[in-house]
This record gives sequence, C-alpha cells and structure tokens, in this order.
Amino acid sequence: MSTPRILVMAGSARRESLARRLAAASLAPLADKGADVELIELADYPMPLYNGDLESESGLPAAAVALQHKLFDCQGLLVVSPEYNGSITPLLKNTLDWCSRPNPADAERSGGAVYAGRAAAVMATSPGPMGGVRVLFHLRDILGYLGLHVIPQQLGVGQAGKAIGADGRLADERQQGMFDGALGALVDTARRLA
Ligand SMILES: Cc1cc2nc3c(=O)[nH]c(=O)nc-3n(C[C@H](O)[C@H](O)[C@H](O)COP(=O)(O)O)c2cc1C
Repeated sequence: MSTPRILVMAGSARRESLARRLAAASLAPLADKGADVELIELADYPMPLYNGDLESESGLPAAAVALQHKLFDCQGLLVVSPEYNGSITPLLKNTLDWCSRPNPADAERSGGAVYAGRAAAVMATSPGPMGGVRVLFHLRDILGYLGLHVIPQQLGVGQAGKAIGADGRLADERQQGMFDGALGALVDTARRLA
C-alpha cells in the first residue's frame, strides 16, 4: 500500500488556537492509518494581504512559493478552521488565494496545479456549542472550487477547549469515532487519487 503525504493546516495562527489543537490531534491517527503527515503552521508562511499590484510588482511572496511546493508534493490536505462570522478566517483565505496564483518562475508547480486532483477533508472548531459548522460549507465550496476532492465526512467540534483532551483525544467517544472515520477516509481517498 502506498504512503500518501497529507498536509494538515489550521486556519488560525493564534498561540492557543483551538483549531490547531484539533489539527495536532489528527497527526497520530493519520500516521496510524498509513499517511506521511506534516502540520503546517500558517504563521511560518507570512504573506501580505493579497493585492494584485503587489503581485504585479513583486510576484509571489517567498512564503507562498514555499507553501506551493509543499502542496504540490502532497496527495491530501486536512484543513481545520475556526468560524469567523460564519465563514473561514482571512488568514486561511489569503493563504489559499496567494497559493492559487501562478508563479512563472515555477510553472509546473504553481497556480491551480498545487490543489487540483488532491483529496481534502474539512473540520471546524469553536469555543461555542455549534462547533463552527457553518464554516464547513464555505470551506468545502472553496476547496472544491480549487479542484480538491473534498470527502463527505466532516466534523465540527463545539466547546473545543473542553472537547479536545490533553491526550489529543476527543472526550466524546462517538465524536472521536467520527474523527477517526473522517481521517481514515481522507487517507484512503488520497491513496486512491495518487
Ligand atoms: C472576527 C471573529 C468572528 C467570530 N465569529 C464566530 C462565529 O461566527 N462562530 C463561532 O463559533 N465563533 C466565532 N468567533 C469566535 C472564535 O470561534 C474563537 O475566537 C476561536 O477561539 C478562534 O479560533 P482559534 O481558537 O483556533 O484561534 C469569532 C471570532 C472572531 C475574532
């Protein structure tokens, strides 16, 4: 069986981010299911707010090119986002937008090619009771538009501060089962698409 490479990213750079806590909790189960995993910290890929003039004058920021390379080399992507006013965070959208732009110096590995044909799963966290479920549909739509194959399984973890234990397991066993199921489906889909 092949070993798909899965990138995991949280849509928040906050130090105590709940989204990152769930993203980090996915690493061991993804590895157990046979994936080669890496947690991407968006803070390590700083990009200015997208502006077409910046792109015309200076091209892509180095961080966008570096992240494009990571994306190009993966077969699957897990995105865990907080919900900001019912949608994804500006940090996540800005990162996805910059990485969607073609880099003429790197024609093979840039633009749409970094996303298309790869598997993706979407998850959300919130300190509130709803688990950020509204962001899941926006995120699914955006990733689908970018050409990723977003698996049907998804998860919104509410009251995430309490729901995600220090051991990286979800306190609710049924929710942990859904988490495991979604991660397994992501690895299977990435493997089949590779
Ligand atoms: C601008 C803004 C909008 C927010 N909108 C929502 C929302 O629509 N739904 C929700 O559950 N929480 C909302 N929150 C609260 C976030 O879920 C909370 O700050 C969360 O901890 C941020 O994610 P993080 O912990 O991964 O950084 C909002 C927070 C901010 C700053």
